[in-house]
Amino acid sequence: MYYPDELVEEIRSRCDIVDTLSQFISLQKKGSNYVCCCPFHNEKTPSFHVSRNKQMYKCFGCGEGGNVFTFLQRYENMTFPEAVEYLAPIAGVTLPERDNSKEAKERAGKRAKIFELNKDAANYFYRVLWDENRGKLGMQYLKKRGLTEETIKHFALGFAPTDSREIVRYLKSKGYSDEEIIESGIANFSEKYGMSSPFWNRVMFPILDEQGKVLGFGGRVMGDGEPKYLNSPETVVFNKRQNLFGFVFAKKARKDRFILCEGYMDVISLHQAGFTEAVAALGTAFTGEQARLLKRYSGNIYLSFDSDGAGVKAAMRAIDMFRQREIMAKVINMKPYKDPDEFIKALGADEYEQRIANAEDGFFFQVKTKENEHNLNDYAEKTKFHHEIAEFLATMDDPLLRDNYLEAVARDKGINKEHLREAVAKEALELANRQQREELRSADGKKTSKEDHIRHTEQLLLTYLLEEDGLYAQIEQYLSDDDFTNELYKNVAAMFFRELKSGNKPNPAGIVSKFEDANEQSEVSALFTTRIEELTDKKDREKAFLDILIKVKQNSFEKWKAENGNDLSVLGEEINRKKALEELKKINIRL
Ligand code: UTP
Ligand code: MN
Repeated sequence: MYYPDELVEEIRSRCDIVDTLSQFISLQKKGSNYVCCCPFHNEKTPSFHVSRNKQMYKCFGCGEGGNVFTFLQRYENMTFPEAVEYLAPIAGVTLPERDNSKEAKERAGKRAKIFELNKDAANYFYRVLWDENRGKLGMQYLKKRGLTEETIKHFALGFAPTDSREIVRYLKSKGYSDEEIIESGIANFSEKYGMSSPFWNRVMFPILDEQGKVLGFGGRVMGDGEPKYLNSPETVVFNKRQNLFGFVFAKKARKDRFILCEGYMDVISLHQAGFTEAVAALGTAFTGEQARLLKRYSGNIYLSFDSDGAGVKAAMRAIDMFRQREIMAKVINMKPYKDPDEFIKALGADEYEQRIANAEDGFFFQVKTKENEHNLNDYAEKTKFHHEIAEFLATMDDPLLRDNYLEAVARDKGINKEHLREAVAKEALELANRQQREELRSADGKKTSKEDHIRHTEQLLLTYLLEEDGLYAQIEQYLSDDDFTNELYKNVAAMFFRELKSGNKPNPAGIVSKFEDANEQSEVSALFTTRIEELTDKKDREKAFLDILIKVKQNSFEKWKAENGNDLSVLGEEINRKKALEELKKINIRL
């Protein structure tokens, strides 16, 4: 942390959440809360709630939540210290000079160090590329692929020299340790070769996050080596599921649409042709998190995947991913060309814009793809095809939307509408059962596992304790921070229980700002802002809360048993724990 906790908390407590957020979005009062359409995802009915009482916000549509600092971080793209600095004068608090000494850097932690290292490496690769001798091969390659010098600079492309130890020597000369270099994924250690980089003789594509920091690299081999593209591994800073190549520029372009394509080169040639809204996944399949990230900025998604088998399969998956988040993606037809890079080179930007205008609806693309897999003269196969259509329709939650598609596809394919409707209803039921059995939908609509389910229960528990005065005193003796499953939750629970015990008004928004990492912040906020089922009857609420508490304790017991259960010496403790659990089931909660 750059600034002392007390100062941060002072600033937070003086900047009322409703007043602060109102500078950026227009909130409407509704009951004791304020609401509006969520600024972080596209929606038509407001599910973004701001609570003056908790000093927190939460979107029940996309799951985004936090306090005044996290809002500025997300909405204005500030870092945590920047958000603190922005609010300090408004709060009338004078901050000490930001400390840039060596210790401060160390405190800022490993992540900052790896980001710095990555940036130095990117600079190094960049300089090699522009070196007339050493970068010649890479530069020739990029120019042959039609990139202008401006584009090469814009994307900060580089070249990794043939000597795989050169980058290691350079980074060491900049003061990085072997350990840090390995941790960044830029080099490995082996008995045989010592420290060396897997990136050599490759054109380097820096992968940037939303703020333009370097997360890692993709490297394309010169010639026909394997693999064609080598990507940095996941590291403390690089999460491939949550980032997209080109997103930092696409976001700034503010075009209210995105073009999702397959590769680095596709993105770069699209940007060069003026389609600065193009992005790509990072050498892995497209994920729900990536869909969610895009949805925050625009619901107009165009897919421009390769027209080969792998590309069609990837498109089918991406369409599903988007539809689960209520987005109907469209598919750009690039025939007779393989990918957008080739298309643009052959036919140019205007023609591509035309293809965007004529893009095919994702659902009908899926229907057509399935149709091609079947011989429709065979009645069994034809029936299977119709069931597959029903499966696609069943994943549409909005009944009006589903009906519109159903009518259209029934007409188009000559299917009896009523029978199709019945098949869809059956599929939808099965889908719901499947989801209920093994999974539960989390706030961002992605399917979740048993662990997520437990996490959700823990979130409910803390939210209840926050919202119902006097509840904690009744159950204090049964619950400790150790009952929570992961370290983050344990920490938060410990802080929260300390506040409750002290008798002061609990301060969840203050707890959130103890965490600097964006993912941690949103996890922590979720612990206090989970939607509690609106039960009007007091008895029902009391029972619901006790059920939640029992679930958390049950899970804590099972976890303890899994860790200690085989040890005879703890048998006594096991019996005690079990007894406590049974007793808990009998207590009365009074709200
Ligand atoms: P492609 O092989 O379609 O890339 O892979 P491309 O852009 O058409 O390749 P060029 O034009 O021959 O240079 C698409 C994407 O899949 C990932 C990369 O992210 C690439 O951009 N990929 C591909 C890998 O991660 N590793 C590979 O070996 C190949
Ligand atoms: Mn390709």
